Amino acid sequence: MNLPKHWYVIARSPEIKKNKILSLTRFGQRLVLWRDIQGALTIMDDRCPHRSAQLSLGELKNGKLACPFHGFQFDAVGTCQWVPELNRAAPKLSVKTYQNREKDGWVWMWWGDGEPADKMPAWFTEVDDTFCTAYMKASWKTHFSRSVENQLDYAHLPFVHRNSIGKYATPIQRYPEFKMDEERIKWFFPRADGLEPQSFIEFRFPNVWINRISEKYSITLAFVPVDDQHTDLYLKSYRKFANIPGLNRVINFLMLRRTRGILNEDRQVVTSQEPIDVRLATEEVLFPSDQAVRHFRKWLG
Ligand code: FES
Ligand SMILES: [Fe+2]
Repeated sequence: MNLPKHWYVIARSPEIKKNKILSLTRFGQRLVLWRDIQGALTIMDDRCPHRSAQLSLGELKNGKLACPFHGFQFDAVGTCQWVPELNRAAPKLSVKTYQNREKDGWVWMWWGDGEPADKMPAWFTEVDDTFCTAYMKASWKTHFSRSVENQLDYAHLPFVHRNSIGKYATPIQRYPEFKMDEERIKWFFPRADGLEPQSFIEFRFPNVWINRISEKYSITLAFVPVDDQHTDLYLKSYRKFANIPGLNRVINFLMLRRTRGILNEDRQVVTSQEPIDVRLATEEVLFPSDQAVRHFRKWLG
């Protein structure tokens, strides 16, 4: 998939359990994810270099991944350490592996040519696991770029969300203040007293977004590129209000149901946009409220 090289969030850490093999499509590539004996994560192409069987159908053996077809075993860096018919390793045979990092329950993968940048995208210091957290995932049939742009656009609120969060929003814009650079797009309404606002929205390149509603409530969203036509949205909410141990499951269920409803409102419109890759949308005319969209398009190239 043609996207700028970067560290992208591609999954959540708990999805990849020890002793389990996970098959995922990311960036249009079929990938296999698994953990070695120490729990370190490996991401590799889900295709055996012998005769192309899907490695995720195989099994884990002593910290190696064994192909289901003829039992060749590959280690965490993709080297073939065991060919049963030869009774030895074949060090020249290897599967392509991808650099990855795990932090705060998320998995980042380096996508693009060359060595990965040392610097990881900064995580949000506003949230940590002292909050009560809840997850949900949605799958949208559109390109990564359309999914991200939707979340950079505040002018759709009174239209797309007229029956939910946009009920009291007005289409006549009071423009928020924007801070935009190579790492992020942040916007907020300045306070009259000049202090740092409690509420803001921030997008961290390449694919993570936070809606910091208050000190006690934030929503993060990762836009995960599946392939050119599909994007997975991983949502995690962090709250410090109504944290009642016996009732949290019910509270989370009700909050996520509402959130899913709001995302569905977005999805209906966003999946109608064509062309689905914004780089092909050369005839679109941008307006003042699209300034974050314009900045994102510059980054996308
Ligand atoms: S195809 Fe994988 S070992 Fe033969
Ligand atoms: Fe929306």
